[in-house]
Amino acid sequence: MAQHAEDLDRDEALARVICVVNDKGGVGKTSIAANIAGQLAAANFQVLLLDLNRQANLSDDLGFRGTGLDDQGRGLVQAIQFNQPLAPVRNIRPRLDVVCGGEDLEFLTPLMITRVSSSGRDAYRILGDVLMPIADDYDITIIDTPPESTILGDLALGAARWVLMPTRSDAGGLVGMSLVAKRFQAAREINPHITLLGAVLFGTGTRSTGIHNEVRTRVAEAFGGHSPMFTTTIRYAEKTAQDARRTGKLAHELESELASQPAWWEQLRTGKPAGARVSATAASVSADYRDLAAEILDVLRQAEEAALAEDDERVSS
Ligand SMILES: Nc1ncnc2c1ncn2[C@@H]1O[C@H](COP(=O)(O)OP(=O)(O)O)[C@@H](O)[C@H]1O
Ligand SMILES: [Mg+2]
Repeated sequence: MAQHAEDLDRDEALARVICVVNDKGGVGKTSIAANIAGQLAAANFQVLLLDLNRQANLSDDLGFRGTGLDDQGRGLVQAIQFNQPLAPVRNIRPRLDVVCGGEDLEFLTPLMITRVSSSGRDAYRILGDVLMPIADDYDITIIDTPPESTILGDLALGAARWVLMPTRSDAGGLVGMSLVAKRFQAAREINPHITLLGAVLFGTGTRSTGIHNEVRTRVAEAFGGHSPMFTTTIRYAEKTAQDARRTGKLAHELESELASQPAWWEQLRTGKPAGARVSATAASVSADYRDLAAEILDVLRQAEEAALAEDDERVSS
């Protein structure tokens, strides 16, 4: 009975934890995690972003790599090692807190191997355990995961209620997705409510319905017929992506800069280097992330309303 009540508390605390997963690298996991978190925080949600990557590209996208805020994952490793609540870096942007990734995360692999060999797959519940005491402080928690690291990915799948899966339309992204689908099934043993929030097509240059349908079919195959796909796609925009990572600014922040940027001829006249200009596509990319964030909120709201209605029915019957 006590165990049951504990599980209910855990389910409730972690109900809005989303992990962004695909075994393939370069499919947009980090860009989506950073931009969705950033736009939701800008829209007044309290957001936590947790980075499970040794490369820690989130710290580039948010512009704090190498600053005093960047602990290279030490805090996260210590929380998991000693089962202590996490202490995120506060207000990387207003209302956006971050648990940093980085080189120190390499210590998690041997630690988890030892734990799994002594207590089995239940060991992967630890990330949820350390998130639980602070998860209530946030409206949304987003976990960015690395490619091809089953151990760190499984930690995320052991904690999250929702899986957001970016893919490109090429074979690599789709294979990465089907590998995740298998691990997703395995994660259900220790995290029974984990659900696919949706797949999203990233870095695409096409509105071709043929390609969208192909991806939809592959998601359905991988996830056994259940294939939620977001209508929004994130368009291909290399210059904006470069501007973002180089300057540590999110697409909607570049969009704001764009609005106050002088005309190119004015810049030329005053002798400022043209290379520093923000690409005009920043506004379109920002709009893509805004639409995706709105779709994500819709899915969460619908799921929460359905769960409430189910509870009401149970009480009244
Ligand atoms: N809209 C975009 N169009 C094209 N390339 C992009 C876009 N957004 C990001 N990128 C670039 O794509 C690469 C992979 O993105 P990233 O988010 O790091 O993927 P992952 O986390 O899955 O490895 C990065 O070099 C990034 O700068
Ligand atoms: Mg990444």
